[in-house]
Amino acid sequence: MRMYDIIMKKRNGGRLSPEEIQFFISGYTRGEIPDYQVSALMMAIYFQGMDEEETLALTMAMAHSGEMLDLSAIEGSKVDKHSTGGVGDKTSLALTPMVAACGIRVAKMSGRGLGHTGGTIDKLESFPGFSTAISREQFIRQVNEIGISIMGQTADLAPADKKLYALRDVTATVDNMSLIASSIMSKKLAAGADAIVLDVKTGSGAFMKTEEDSLALAREMVKIGNGAGRKTIAVVSDMDQPLGRAVGNALEVKEAIDTLRGQGPEDFVELCLTLGSQMLLAGGKAQEPDQARAMLQQTMESGAALEKLAQFVQAQGGDPAAVYDTGLLPAAACSEPIPALEDGYIHRIRCDEIGICSLMLGGGRETKDSEIDLAVGLVLTAKVGDYVKKGEPLAYMHYNDPHKAAAARERFYRAYTIGAEAGGKAPVLIHRILG
Ligand code: URA
Repeated sequence: MRMYDIIMKKRNGGRLSPEEIQFFISGYTRGEIPDYQVSALMMAIYFQGMDEEETLALTMAMAHSGEMLDLSAIEGSKVDKHSTGGVGDKTSLALTPMVAACGIRVAKMSGRGLGHTGGTIDKLESFPGFSTAISREQFIRQVNEIGISIMGQTADLAPADKKLYALRDVTATVDNMSLIASSIMSKKLAAGADAIVLDVKTGSGAFMKTEEDSLALAREMVKIGNGAGRKTIAVVSDMDQPLGRAVGNALEVKEAIDTLRGQGPEDFVELCLTLGSQMLLAGGKAQEPDQARAMLQQTMESGAALEKLAQFVQAQGGDPAAVYDTGLLPAAACSEPIPALEDGYIHRIRCDEIGICSLMLGGGRETKDSEIDLAVGLVLTAKVGDYVKKGEPLAYMHYNDPHKAAAARERFYRAYTIGAEAGGKAPVLIHRILG
């Protein structure tokens, strides 16, 4: 078999066989096929697409390119959750202690933020001392003891995806449905959970900008997961404005803690309850969605979810006192309002622009190795559908470096479309549950 022939076949609109897919994935993982040939193939796939069988073969080849985690030493049903990524998406921080407090075993691998989207691991490192670089043994022991552990993605989990994703990121080939579905599902299958709940984002801050494409991606991933014997469910949720109000690592941790105290923003609470219900149903802890929602609500009212978060933070070396006193989290030296420049209704808040503002303040990485400032970011005071008067704050900017703040402030206004006509509230969630 020759890589040249595989590229040409796809370029001309042909279907790749499972053997051809396995050939290029193994060869690329071993470093025998160069980046330039795989880049050409990715671009050919981008334009010609892949059918379901090709996508499934690609997923399985990537999942098996490294270690397939065996979580059988963890008792009970293990449920994983994955978001396709967004701005202000701190769902895992609030959701995982809620479902763990209901008895679901959460054994989760998470990633860091890149570009304008955040990552759970960076956010968790806002707890002083917290580490996700834990051993496999600690990971399993901790899930058995307290029901929850989150670790960083190991180098030997779906290594083909790691290489391919880095290549796609710099060759404008990320936003293709088959490539996204296989990338996400290969990692999820390799990570070993029995059930997977997917949060597929749609809108300006998502890879899939339209509801139709997001639904198609959701269906594709559900089919792959169920086909591989894992109970897989997907929810399509809005990412046409930031989720909740806080964008930035420690600010998002604080919002997640406020949520566990029953004081979370409406859209964020709704998303946690929707995804959490699916996790409880998939893990067999509830039989009906209403029962699951009531159980999750109860974890907030009783303080059980907050206590679970504190146990989790302490188990991974963090200071649990910060869960009860958010004043102990990193805080920026300065905070100032960003005023509306006109009266009107907010019609649009572009997620990508808000994410870039947070990045410009130092809250995200320009390159994989950049240091990030955990304290900085934005807290939105008004969202789509709200009326604002000129001079009233649209958001508060938290910053340490006045030069970065000046640049971010200018960029901030690009995110907003404000008009005289009432535009109505944006739908906070697009409830499509498949599986
Ligand atoms: N997240 C992933 O892990 N892979 C993609 O291709 C897109 C989002």
